Amino acid sequence: MKRIGIYPGTFDPITVGHMDIIKRGLNVVDKLIVGVALDTGKAPVFDLEMRAKLVEQDIARLGKDAARIEVKSFSGLLMNFAEESKACLVIRGLRAVSDFEYEFQMACMNSRLNRSIETVFLTASEDTHFISSRFVKQIARLGGDISSFVSPNVAKHLKKHFAKK
Ligand code: COA
Repeated sequence: MKRIGIYPGTFDPITVGHMDIIKRGLNVVDKLIVGVALDTGKAPVFDLEMRAKLVEQDIARLGKDAARIEVKSFSGLLMNFAEESKACLVIRGLRAVSDFEYEFQMACMNSRLNRSIETVFLTASEDTHFISSRFVKQIARLGGDISSFVSPNVAKHLKKHFAKK
């Protein structure tokens, strides 16, 4: 049986930190669904369609590994989406101790909603653990260099977005 995992997030926008988790997530599952969430409690800069498109374009650059990854947008509860997708686990990245409380709480709440789906944490790699989409957007808005945090494609779209403002 194929082991299917979900890597959910807002991805506003996808960063090299997310890509690191996606690549390493492939070591624990046969198929990885990157779930781009509509309901996140955040006010994203890019709409759902654009966030998913940027994720797809970054994943397309992975070569043959891309064949084991699917990008899907979802609304509503993550656990419902995971069940519908026949996933047995949810993958989340942990960057620092500060992420732990939020992630621990979310994993426990999700576990109450569906006991058969496990949350698995991958620690962010040492060269990406400080990256956050929020700071990437702030730097882009203020005209700074974001080339080491996101792909050239994402950087181009962020630049275009903030040039219009
Ligand atoms: N390296 C670098 N940065 C990383 C990272 C990594 N490995 N992993 C996450 N990040 C950053 C992101 O850039 C983001 O930064 P930001 O807060 O500055 O924007 C932050 O960490 C977390 O973002 P992300 O991984 O995209 O997750 P999220 O917390 O925005 O997503 C959902 C949360 C989508 C999983 C959650 O809202 C959800 O499940 N929504 C569906 C509704 C639901 O089921 N709710 C009940 C939940 S109990």
